[in-house]
Order: sequence, then C-alpha cells, then structure tokens
Amino acid sequence: MHARSVGIDALSFYCPRYALDLKVLAEARSVDPQKYAAGLGQDCMAVPPPDEDVVTMGASAALPLVQEGDRDAIALLLFATESGVDQSKAAALHLHGLLDLPHGCRAVEMKQACYSATAALQLACAWLALHPDRTALIVAADIARYELRSPGEPTQGAGAVAMRLAVEPRLLALDPEAGLFADDVMDFWRPNYRSEALVDGQYSTRVYLQSLLHCWAQYREQSGRGLADFDRFCYHLPFTRMAEKAHGRLARACGAPAPDAETLARLVGDGLRYNRQTGNTYAASLYEGLTSLLDTSDADLAGCRIGLFSYGSGCTGEFFSGVVQPDYRVALRAEAHRRLLEDRTALEYQQYEDIFQLAVPTDGGEHAFAQYRTGPFRLAGIGQHKRIYERVDE
Ligand code: HMG
Repeated sequence: MHARSVGIDALSFYCPRYALDLKVLAEARSVDPQKYAAGLGQDCMAVPPPDEDVVTMGASAALPLVQEGDRDAIALLLFATESGVDQSKAAALHLHGLLDLPHGCRAVEMKQACYSATAALQLACAWLALHPDRTALIVAADIARYELRSPGEPTQGAGAVAMRLAVEPRLLALDPEAGLFADDVMDFWRPNYRSEALVDGQYSTRVYLQSLLHCWAQYREQSGRGLADFDRFCYHLPFTRMAEKAHGRLARACGAPAPDAETLARLVGDGLRYNRQTGNTYAASLYEGLTSLLDTSDADLAGCRIGLFSYGSGCTGEFFSGVVQPDYRVALRAEAHRRLLEDRTALEYQQYEDIFQLAVPTDGGEHAFAQYRTGPFRLAGIGQHKRIYERVDE
C-alpha cells in the first residue's frame, strides 16, 4: 500500500504591530545604514510592545488556523520557543485556553534555540502516521533580544508562525529523509537570569555553516539527491544575508560554481522578504521564510522540491525537504500577511529604547499593562505571579 503523505497543511504568520526602521538605528549608532541593509540584509526589526509576549504572538498566529479548521481534530499542540514565560508551565497551555482547544490533546513546550520547531514538526509527522484522522498544531514564537549597542542588536526581531500538520497536506508534503547534526558548542546562549542572549557572533556563523555541511552530507547519503534536484532553498534566517552565505557555501561543497546574484535571487530570494522586515524570530524564522516563499513567489511552485535547513545554536542542525502540493495557493494567507507587515507603527529611536528597557514586574503584586496595538490577544497584566491574558476586539 502507498504511504500517505504527511506535512504542512496550513501556515499563519504574526508579528508585532511596531517596527524600528534600521536606518533609524544606524543613525543612532553612527553606523553606515548600508551595513545593515546590504551587509546583514535587514530593513526593519519587529518590536513587541509590553503587552505582547510569545503566548500572545503564538495565539495570534494560530487563531486563524483554529477558526478555519476542525478544532476538534487537534490532538497535539507543540509550542516551540526559547523565550518561554515560565520555567514549569508550558506556553502551549496558555494557548490551549486562549484558543479553546479540545481537552484530549497532548500539549507541551519545546526548546532547542532556533531549532525546536523543526523537532516539533518531525515528531508531529511521525505521530500523524499513527493518528491519520487527527491534526497537529505547531506554534513557534520568539523575541530575539541582544544588548543595546552590541553587534547582535540590528538582528533583533520578534514574531510567530503557526502550522497545521496533517496527512495529505495542502501546502508541503515532507520527504522522509533528514540529515542531522548535534554538537555541544557555546556559540549563543541565554542563562536563566538574563533577558538578553549572549553570543560569539562570528563563531556562531561558522558553526552554522559547518552544521549545514554535516547535515547536507547525511541527507545526500540518505536521499541520493544533489543540488540540481531542488527548486528553492529555505535557510534559518538570523539575518537574511546568512541564507546567501549558506547557499554559496553549500554550492562550493558540492563542487558547483558560486551562485551569482540572479541565481541566489531565484533560489532563496522570495523566502527572505518577510524576515527582512521582522528580524530574527528564532524558532519561527525558518518557517517565516517558508511562508514568505510560498506567499510571495510569482512562479508557480506546485511540484517544486524545497530544501530546508534548520539551525539552533548550541547546536543542532537539520537539512530536510518537501514538495509543494498542486493546489497550495488556495491554502495561503498571503493577503493577511501582506496587510500585517504593511500596517505597522514605525517607532522613533527613543520609543524603541524605552520599550527595550521595560522589565516585567517580579514582585507578585497586581500590575496592569498599558494597552498598545496587538493582535487578537494581549497580556493584560500580572497578578500573584500569574500572567493574565485577554482577547482584544479588533
Ligand atoms: P558585525 O560585527 O556587524 O560583523 O556582526 P561585520 O563587521 O562582519 O559586518 C557584517 C557584514 O556587513 C560583513 O559582510 C561586512 O563586510 C558588511 P560579510 O563580510 O559577512 O559578507 N558591511 C557592510 N556592507 C555594506 N556597507 C557597509 C558595510 N559595513 C560592513 N558600510 C554578526 C555580525 C552576525 C556576527 C552580529 O550581527 C551578531 O552577533 N549577530 C547575532 C548572532 C547571529 O546572528 N549569528 C548567526 C549564526 S547563529 C544562528 O543563526 C542562531 C541564532 O538564530 C540563535 C538561535 O539559534 O537561537 C542566532
């Protein structure tokens, strides 16, 4: 009997309603704006207001998928993040409540830097093979924070992607092969007592590229596929230039000529558009790139094989692939995503720094947060050390 395909049936992206243009940051830091625009490949960073966190962003991304699909079929909810709001309770459970999901559901939070959504995706696909009448909801949400004035600062960002996984998916059927790489390295980390990540920046980019080559070698051995078997590539995007470096490195390792600008634009360009506007969204970043590719490509991608590279510092990498399904365009939310990115409030430099400096109260008292622009959910306050979320009328 022919095995049924498994993969991504629907994708929804959300990012905060505030953004800092990196030209404004460049001016404040007395840096040539081209360093950010061309050197890093970033135009804007999404800035979450004080009443937005990974739970509100994740719930806002997931709501349309829950509303349009069969809510009762969701029996697995995996929340991928490295910006968790609690050391014990999974953010998945806040989401479970906000989205009114069925009680017969396995709900858990997953962490491995930017990689965890890929682990969630693969675990959910294996689970779906056993439970083909169910669906899984994977939510990846993160807030990328580095110290003010650090080299990482222009790569900050925030956002969330929700994916519904199902058998015979409408968007992307995953191939069974996957090349993996894990190693204990200190390229990027965030101790529990810090709200900003620590990073050995140049080293982290080298480890990223080495991981890619290890993963590719294993994937190639399993699948027998070469570069020419792929129509597009999506890479984890700490900043969008990283994808261009990664693809160049991969081509060199395969003995292919260095890709020129036109080849890079065709193979990776459409996947970079959204991330250029949001900055790094850590666990969500690769899937934000995939959403950008499917939403914005003028080409008909039906039947195209996409290579995906997921990287999480620390480190874990995975190269895997999938084939775009014939009627994928009907399942896209491209117009909603376009409006979301276009309709953001631009921040002045000082507004960005003021938001950055705000700390979450830790005294256990009753705190209400001022209301900013958010999606359909916001963090209304904190009382007795409990986060209080509310639905917002849009
Ligand atoms: P930097 O100090 O800005 O580096 O740090 P730089 O001085 O090398 O400049 C960057 C690029 O801009 C260079 O291009 C310059 O030439 C160019 P390249 O040589 O690389 O091609 N440049 C200019 N271009 C045009 N006009 C100019 C100009 N000036 C310079 N005037 C770094 C860069 C990425 C290290 C820093 O931003 C950083 O530390 N970022 C955070 C860490 C990071 O993103 N690492 C990426 C790999 S690790 C990863 O992806 C995992 C992660 O997502 C976390 C997780 O897994 O959870 C981070």
